[in-house]
Amino acid sequence: MAVREILKMGDPRLLRVAQPVTAFDTDALHLLITDLLDTMRAADGAGLAAPQIGVDLQLVIFGTDRANPRYPQAPVVPRTVLINPVITPLGAAEVDDWEGCLSVPGLRAKVPRFEQIRYTGFDPYGDPIERTVEGFHARVVQHECDHLIGKLYPMRVRDFSQFGFTSVLFPELDSADD
Ligand code: NI
Repeated sequence: MAVREILKMGDPRLLRVAQPVTAFDTDALHLLITDLLDTMRAADGAGLAAPQIGVDLQLVIFGTDRANPRYPQAPVVPRTVLINPVITPLGAAEVDDWEGCLSVPGLRAKVPRFEQIRYTGFDPYGDPIERTVEGFHARVVQHECDHLIGKLYPMRVRDFSQFGFTSVLFPELDSADD
């Protein structure tokens, strides 16, 4: 178990296109997932992608199975390890909502995302995952999978009047520093 350092925006390792995972159910893969879960939990993150701890692999984790103090109004998303993901938007409808990122501490912005998506990928044992989701769940998956193609949410912002410091926008949040 280890809480790893989360890379911050400006680090070129966050801008890489990540490599696919080719070996499942290995000790190295399980160790990486444990580190990601520990790191996400320690930071109260809604999700975390392997590139955020400097690992150049297509692997994301998200979900908390409980209300998240950084997003207290958000619905609970089941804890998921998703490897080599592929996202297919279902329709062109987009929704704007607030996002933050552990690699962009202290800030939030309204980011457009597809309202409904199907995503596929694999769990740590190589078993396939396929889900159709919408709303916050769809948003979290699109945000995390963007990390696998070198995109951070500020690159998706269209209206920069809706971009600011968490402590100013949401002074009621406890952990307003990320
Ligand atoms: Ni992020």
